[in-house]
Amino acid sequence: MKWHIQPLAMEASSPRYIRRQEYKKPDWLIPQTHLDVQIFDKFARSTITLNVTRTSDTSEPLVLQGEQLEFISAFCDGVPLAALQMVLTAEELTISGLPPQCELKIISQTDPYHNTALEGLYASGDMLCTQCEPEGFRRIAYFSDRPDVMSIFTTRIEADLKYPNLLSNGNLEQTGLSEGGRHFAVWHDPHPKPSYLFALVAGDLACVKDQFIRASGQKVDLHIYVEKGNEHLTSHAMDSLKASMKWDEDVYGLEYDLDLFQIVAVSHFNMGAMENKGLNIFNSKFVLADENTATDDDLARVESIVAHEYFHNWTGNRVTCRDWFQLTLKEGLTVFRDQCFSADMHDEGVKRAEDIKILRSVQFSEDASPTAHPIRPEQYSEINNFYTPTIYEKGAEVIRMMYHVLGKDAYRKGIDIYFERHDGQAVTCDEFISALDAASDADIQTFSIWYRQAGTPELTAARKGQNTIYFSQSLAPNAANTSTDPMPIPVKMGLVGKQGEAIAFSIDGGPQKTDHLVMLDSADKTLTLSSDSAEIAGAVPSILRGFSAPVRLNHDLEIDEIAHLASFDSDKVNRYEAFQTLYKQAISARMTAGPDEKLEDILGQAIGRLLADASLNDDFKAISISLPSQAETEQAASIGGFVDPVAIYWTRMALGKALGNISQSWISAYIADEVHQHNAASRQLLGGALSWGVLTGNEETISRTEAFALHKNMTISMAALRALNTINHAARERALSHFHDKWQDHSLVMEKWFSLKACSAYASDIEALHRLMAHPAFDFKNPNKVRSVLGSFCSANPVHFHDQSGSGYQFMAEQLARLDAQNPQIAARMAISLTRFAHYHPERQKLMCDALRQLAKGRLSRDLNEVVSKGLTSL
Ligand code: PHE
Ligand code: ZN
Repeated sequence: MKWHIQPLAMEASSPRYIRRQEYKKPDWLIPQTHLDVQIFDKFARSTITLNVTRTSDTSEPLVLQGEQLEFISAFCDGVPLAALQMVLTAEELTISGLPPQCELKIISQTDPYHNTALEGLYASGDMLCTQCEPEGFRRIAYFSDRPDVMSIFTTRIEADLKYPNLLSNGNLEQTGLSEGGRHFAVWHDPHPKPSYLFALVAGDLACVKDQFIRASGQKVDLHIYVEKGNEHLTSHAMDSLKASMKWDEDVYGLEYDLDLFQIVAVSHFNMGAMENKGLNIFNSKFVLADENTATDDDLARVESIVAHEYFHNWTGNRVTCRDWFQLTLKEGLTVFRDQCFSADMHDEGVKRAEDIKILRSVQFSEDASPTAHPIRPEQYSEINNFYTPTIYEKGAEVIRMMYHVLGKDAYRKGIDIYFERHDGQAVTCDEFISALDAASDADIQTFSIWYRQAGTPELTAARKGQNTIYFSQSLAPNAANTSTDPMPIPVKMGLVGKQGEAIAFSIDGGPQKTDHLVMLDSADKTLTLSSDSAEIAGAVPSILRGFSAPVRLNHDLEIDEIAHLASFDSDKVNRYEAFQTLYKQAISARMTAGPDEKLEDILGQAIGRLLADASLNDDFKAISISLPSQAETEQAASIGGFVDPVAIYWTRMALGKALGNISQSWISAYIADEVHQHNAASRQLLGGALSWGVLTGNEETISRTEAFALHKNMTISMAALRALNTINHAARERALSHFHDKWQDHSLVMEKWFSLKACSAYASDIEALHRLMAHPAFDFKNPNKVRSVLGSFCSANPVHFHDQSGSGYQFMAEQLARLDAQNPQIAARMAISLTRFAHYHPERQKLMCDALRQLAKGRLSRDLNEVVSKGLTSL
């Protein structure tokens, strides 16, 4: 990694860090909370009543957090608190001289209508909703807003009758009318929970109802609330919810624990969705979907997010995090669970390949960047900046490794131990590891190093003579400055014989098997393979099957050996990986010496065999013919030095064109056959065919693709538009404008149009982006819209974002400054793209830093300041 270029004075003010080692137990507990929220036209008034108990004999004052709140008054056991007892700052209310146990009542006010940060209580369209994780509750009422303070909540909401739906966590206990044509609802959640799981909604919504019968026989009511008129778009989410509930019972033995489960879809939401106890709040994009408005990928994402939030009910809610450094405790585990669920619902190999592609694209890039951090960070300035691919996806990978080492049954036993020991508690990652460790003789504790060290380990497998493989690992220094010691790396491997058969072999004289799991637990290790079968000679090793560890693999396989794996490996993931390796090698040859004809010829033959293989599913074929992403290609190319992202983009397109030419006849036949439009797997392959097909410039393919862009099935329409978006052809503009005219009144579908427009290499210059943001369907206050224009631009438009003039960076800096003033969380997230420069040439690094420096001149939120200053100090 290149962290060593000239040091720079840092303009951004140095962030203040909170450190994991400084954790202190709470001095006060709050066993019971009564929250009364009265909603008025200009403000909301919270009356919070806390039963507080001091935990130790020390006479520490009670410190409550409160932000953007107007303090009104406070009482202890009914008596107004004296001003002398209280110290009030913009962030905290400190109360001293309280008896060890008392009832504290605090009244405050907030303005949800101008809350554009979308944390705490805010308005989204005509409704009011909340987002509390991680520290939003303090914007609703004064509270000890930390996850290890768990309380039983009773919530009363009072509002005008224009909000017929008043929702909160738990069970509805009472409703009624109150003075002035108003009404109220009282909710009680029997499960103690941290404040971050609190939620409240007031709106005039449609409710779609269903039921689920638990394994033990009790009935659960399932309610999905959406804006009126969207009811018909909820059935996929509802089916996904029921499937998740069933799966968690079947696979983990976990049942739901309330009589009601509610989901509310809101259009202004910073993230995907939120697992508030019994009242999940979703970005409407991940609820509202059918095959006319959403692609098959979108539908799969809805299913996995619904499952993810539901699974949090146990992994996150029943057992929660002691502090925010432990975020991966709930997120890594819940991602691992939702990945397994999706694998069970669809194709395991394809799902795994898709997850690996994402991991490598976004998490490996993060590990190599100035914002690198271990899955359990040591410090943060703004915790909102740590909802990252590392905490989520790498966290899931670490659990997957332990799962492989334990095996299915011992893993399940470990999870049972985790719940037996910790149900109802707020715990750390250490407790999770210990529970898994207690399930078998396997040494799971050694995996705790994966929680401490940032960076992506590099695993090298080199053949030394006949049947000997030398494994070694290394870990480059990273921006988080964590240690770089050897990690336990589980390596699954097999041997693929000359005829493509699986060869049984033994390692170092052990039992003969076709599949082995080797633990590399030191810097290196030599394995000697042997077999009764003579076919071991010339067999090709298939290493890291199933991507059994989140590492970068180097091996010394020859091109024909890789192609052999691409055609015959019984492990789907490694078969996919073999194709990816060949594509990367082909791109890298084109970047340096020009097309490697022999390589592309071998690759073309392997692709031909793949596409002709009737035993393979179309979705597997589709993922196998998807080229490595821009980020994956950049990483592969940066191993030898600096890379040019624009050149990489064009080279990827040129390879797509070459492969399209090779596959021309298959493409024409495939896209002509209507049969391939009728199931998701075939549509996925249709997308692949179109993407290569249009690059060839074949006019017939292009005009068929233009026709597909109008297809009523959204998957087909989007596949066609994405393909057309990569070529400079009049069909692109025509198809996009038809799509626009058809969907201009459909807010969620318009996000797809915005995104396509923002990532065209041909049409999306800065002027075009300004025009997009002036479009009537655009809303700078809506994160989905901002992401679909600005997010797509900086993550999926390398040609214009990385324009050598620096105009793309400057444009982003200007927009981020504007965005930061209203939504720091989104601004900080998007600013990350300006810090991903370590592998670029120094001139480009300078341009990107100029943009960061320009940003740093302004007054930045804590969120954005942390990202900008990490970017600048890495230089
Ligand atoms: N906890 C949510 C999830 O992963 C993510 C989230 C974090 C949502 C912060 C909103 C705010 O399921
Ligand atoms: Zn989650």
